[in-house]
Amino acid sequence: MADVHDEIEARLSEVRQFAPSPEFAASANVDVSIYDIATADPEAFWATQARNLTWATPFTTTLEWTPPNATWFGDGTLNASVNCLDRHVANGRGDKVAYHFVGEPEGDTRTITYQALFNEVCRAANALTELGVVAGDRVAIYMPMIPEAIVAMLACARLGAAHSVIFGGFTADALAHRITDADCRVVITADGGFRRGTASGLKVNVDAALAQCPDVHSVVVVRRTGQDVNVVDGRDHWWHDVVAPQSPHHVAQAFPAEQPLYVMYTSGTTAKPKGILHTTAGYLTHVSTTHAMVFDLKADTDVVWTAADIGWVTGHSYIVYGPLCNGATSVLYEGVPDAGGKDRWWRIVEEYGVTILYTAPTTIRTLMKWGDEFPMAHDRSSLRLLGSVGEPINPEAWMWYRDVIGEGRCPIVDTWWQTETGGIMATPLPGVTATKPGAAMRAFPGISLDVVDHEGTSVGNSGGGFLVVNKPWPGMTRGIWGDPQRFQETYWSQVPGRYFAGDGAKLDDDGDLWILGRIDDVMNVSGHRLSTAEVEHCLVAHASVAEAAVVGASDETTGQAVVAFVTLRSGFDADDALVDELRALVSKMIGPIAKPKRILVTPELPKTRSGKIMRRLLRDVAEHRSLGDTTTLLDPSVLSMIDDLMRSTPSDD
Ligand code: WT7
Repeated sequence: MADVHDEIEARLSEVRQFAPSPEFAASANVDVSIYDIATADPEAFWATQARNLTWATPFTTTLEWTPPNATWFGDGTLNASVNCLDRHVANGRGDKVAYHFVGEPEGDTRTITYQALFNEVCRAANALTELGVVAGDRVAIYMPMIPEAIVAMLACARLGAAHSVIFGGFTADALAHRITDADCRVVITADGGFRRGTASGLKVNVDAALAQCPDVHSVVVVRRTGQDVNVVDGRDHWWHDVVAPQSPHHVAQAFPAEQPLYVMYTSGTTAKPKGILHTTAGYLTHVSTTHAMVFDLKADTDVVWTAADIGWVTGHSYIVYGPLCNGATSVLYEGVPDAGGKDRWWRIVEEYGVTILYTAPTTIRTLMKWGDEFPMAHDRSSLRLLGSVGEPINPEAWMWYRDVIGEGRCPIVDTWWQTETGGIMATPLPGVTATKPGAAMRAFPGISLDVVDHEGTSVGNSGGGFLVVNKPWPGMTRGIWGDPQRFQETYWSQVPGRYFAGDGAKLDDDGDLWILGRIDDVMNVSGHRLSTAEVEHCLVAHASVAEAAVVGASDETTGQAVVAFVTLRSGFDADDALVDELRALVSKMIGPIAKPKRILVTPELPKTRSGKIMRRLLRDVAEHRSLGDTTTLLDPSVLSMIDDLMRSTPSDD
């Protein structure tokens, strides 16, 4: 972490600070008193927020906490789908637009009102009921970014069944593992989706995955691209056959506050992804409150564009549940940022009058690289707030986002959170908190964060250490699906009684929070979390590979890039064809996002005397840094040899 510290030091010395803009402050949803109110009694603060939800049975208890198990609003009952839909329709807001859907192919758009979304969710809920889905089940969703994906999620929620959305970029193996781990019996998918101008295949991956998942009895398929798909009699059903004929009404049952809402798989430090469980009332409270306060949402007039995939938690919380609970209008865009031209995003902003744009630093850097002329060619005067999420944002990208995209007038919220936290945990509040390029600034009201050392002692201002959460919060994960022991060990054992985030952080002289990135073997590539172990596991699955060590090396565009070091079994040669084969294997087993940017074949890997591979030193090599302390190595010459090899071999991407 030392080098990152130095970088931050350098940034801090030249840092600029932006005071909250008076214009923004004048109409902001909250003022600075919110911090004192929430700090004085966090549980009361969250209970007040929770009362904005529509309850079938109001709760009387707020928090029960037996570490690491929390129950929020435990005796209340409600329905997530009713909170997203029925109550807005009942309040006369049925004609309000829920989503402006923009497909990747030009001109392929749909406008979906709350009334229309409600009716479609009811139909889907009725169809899933016919297929045998009941409360307590898990349903897998593997879809492109189309409205039916959201309909499917809400239909599950309406029935009290947990959805497990699997990112469309994942492959059959990854899909099979997730379906089996959560014991999903029904899969909702599409023939494919549009990405980079071509129709990708999704159903074909489902077919391959289901060869390993005998318990799946039903598959519902949306026709999106029109490509030919294999239809298994009795198992596979077209969405338009089973959903369209249903009644557009469905009376939703209320479920306990802690009813599982969804499972979302994310990478940890081992090869096995973790199924992060979120439940209903606390999660909805957290995402709706943060969505309203962090983005200063004016539900009547704002057009919110969270440019993320619904296959990740950002999509769940800030495309689906947060905005819908708040009755907001969102943009849902299917494709890549440059489909149909490098100004595609800005055409969307202009056409729909997007007011709030929320995306990842990796995308901001890509847009920046393409040049100012693309945004400049379009009217961006509708924009009033910009958000960043998913990885540390470098000050240059932050300043570009602010000055070029936001014309210097839009506050920027750099929001730190995780799949596990459910919603935003650290962020400035627009119009209230000052901002600094690259800093997440402070904990959201009602959230208690600290930066601590190995002993769990606060480091105080000007100190670096581990980011922890001191107290339970409503959106916190309720566990790892099927693995309570791993839950306890990963998050609640490093600093007893406190949530260990796995991120390094620093408080500057003003006490403002800077996130330094992961301190464990988790990589962050284009805002996607990947486990080094998971990629190593793929590589060693190849007959030629004896050992593999994977690191995340800093990369100008993607934040980090996957770099792999492998040793070969005897009888295999380190040629280009083999390296290509290994890269393709990872892509096939996990997905293209995990494909190593570089694979270096080396005679040996650097190990400690106890035989542990020193990934930290390999990261130095991959980042072309001078080699640090190598005294713990069994044979330091191995590392210098790899370093020479790295410098002399051309990059193979
Ligand atoms: C990890 C969580 C949050 C939803 C998307 C990613 C990194 C996230 C920031 C930020 C610096 C950030 C952390 C975290 N991260 N936001 N604003 N500044 N780092 O969710 O896949 O669960 O990844 O992303 O390292 O632990 P995720």
